[in-house]
Amino acid sequence: MATDITFHSGSVSLTEREDILKQKGVTIWLTGLSASGKSTIACALEQHLLHMRKFSYRLDGDNIRFGLNRDLGFDEKSRNENIRRIGEVSRLFADAACITITAFISPYRADRAIAREIHEKAGLAFVEVFVDAPLNVVERRDPKGLYKKARAGEIKEFTGITAPYEPPEIPDIHIKTDECNVEEAVVMIVEYLNQQGYL
Ligand SMILES: Nc1ncnc2c1ncn2[C@@H]1O[C@H](COP(=O)(O)OP(=O)(O)O)[C@@H](O)[C@H]1O
Ligand SMILES: [Mg+2]
Repeated sequence: MATDITFHSGSVSLTEREDILKQKGVTIWLTGLSASGKSTIACALEQHLLHMRKFSYRLDGDNIRFGLNRDLGFDEKSRNENIRRIGEVSRLFADAACITITAFISPYRADRAIAREIHEKAGLAFVEVFVDAPLNVVERRDPKGLYKKARAGEIKEFTGITAPYEPPEIPDIHIKTDECNVEEAVVMIVEYLNQQGYL
């Protein structure tokens, strides 16, 4: 760990930046089982917000593992580090006044709590969205054939099968994707953002 370092503050405060850009930084953190609908909802939400002329950007677990986190696997320690880095990166995006949408399984409660803490310490809003569908439903969807592989023992430490998923106890938004469609999910999130004064 580096020790001889000093934080260099900018000359524009977060509030000034938000005033200038007429937009508030916030992170919308989607968590849920594989195939619960995180990526699908994140894409639709990003598109919707951009059409509202809001600076919005999506960080998707599947994509981040090709770049920033390509050195990480799926054991518990790697998953912790995966989420720690995304917590930090999304905080930077939110600090840049971006509406940041993250789509990661993020199975551990403690890791999501760290991501929230990183934001709150920086005075940034963090919205936890539980993208929820029962295991039998996501297993039936299986868009990438991963559950099939996990059941056959071809993928170890697969969330919901051989690795844990700790659902949020009190999510800010709870979306049951087996009971609503993608458009309804986007409306739920946008309405929440409006209510909270984030848009
Ligand atoms: N209400 C819904 N919201 C999101 N996805 C849904 C919904 N209903 C069905 N689906 C389907 O479920 C699958 C979810 O896949 P994906 O978004 O890649 O999940 P994740 O990113 O959580 O692994 C897609 O095939 C999508 O079309
Ligand atoms: Mg995904």
